[in-house]
Amino acid sequence: MTDDIQLDKETIAKAYARWAPVYDLVFGAVFERGRQAAIAAAERIGGRILEVGVGTGISLPDYSPANRLYGVDISEPMLRKAQERVTELGLNHVEGLSVMDAARLSFPDASFDVVVAQYVVTTVPDPEATLDEFARVLRPGGEIVLVSRVGAEAGLRKSLERWFAPAARKLGWRTEFPWQRYARWAEGARGMRLIERRAMPPFGHFSLIRFGKAEAIRSGAKEALSASA
Ligand SMILES: C[S@@+](CC[C@H](N)C(=O)[O-])C[C@H]1O[C@@H](n2cnc3c(N)ncnc32)[C@H](O)[C@@H]1O
Repeated sequence: MTDDIQLDKETIAKAYARWAPVYDLVFGAVFERGRQAAIAAAERIGGRILEVGVGTGISLPDYSPANRLYGVDISEPMLRKAQERVTELGLNHVEGLSVMDAARLSFPDASFDVVVAQYVVTTVPDPEATLDEFARVLRPGGEIVLVSRVGAEAGLRKSLERWFAPAARKLGWRTEFPWQRYARWAEGARGMRLIERRAMPPFGHFSLIRFGKAEAIRSGAKEALSASA
């Protein structure tokens, strides 16, 4: 973690303010399969879904109206695009959109059935603290669904990622992000476990990653356990 490139919120917010007018054009098609995979995974659980780093709201029309969606993002210009989309398309299943830092969500514990973050975790200053926050607002039995960059372990791609890292930071993301960071987080986070990792385009540089939160032990079960001890 020590050679991690440092991102700060101000640089990221500035970067996405610049991306907002052209984001859908540049990143619409290229990330489409990942978004569809994340939506399908989220809808297997369904219910109240938090999309963190919702950006221009590009994925919102693709969720079934049977779910309730809440979108948050650090970038006000990106979120303004999302609001225009919600209004124009009459997306009544979108409960709210708010400017919010992914690492400091202003929701009570266990508020959501699913937390989705597509192409976001490697853009935040402290990915592990951000994942902790996702786990906090998730109800027991719920899932965190990510589509996220996984950096190369070795070879030419790793060298290229290292070389491109300073420029990528200005554009608003990290290129280097080893799988061990996700795995280590899941091992250390209480009650969370890895359910799935699946390579996603472009070139398999991204993955669909699902983490499940353990069901709370019901009080009856707890009593039975202590009686049998
Ligand atoms: C690469 S874009 C992904 C947007 C969208 N999820 C998609 O599928 O295209 C990353 C998004 O994360 C947002 N973001 C970056 N850092 C954030 C933070 N700390 N808290 C909330 N959102 C953040 C950016 O403003 C941007 O909208």
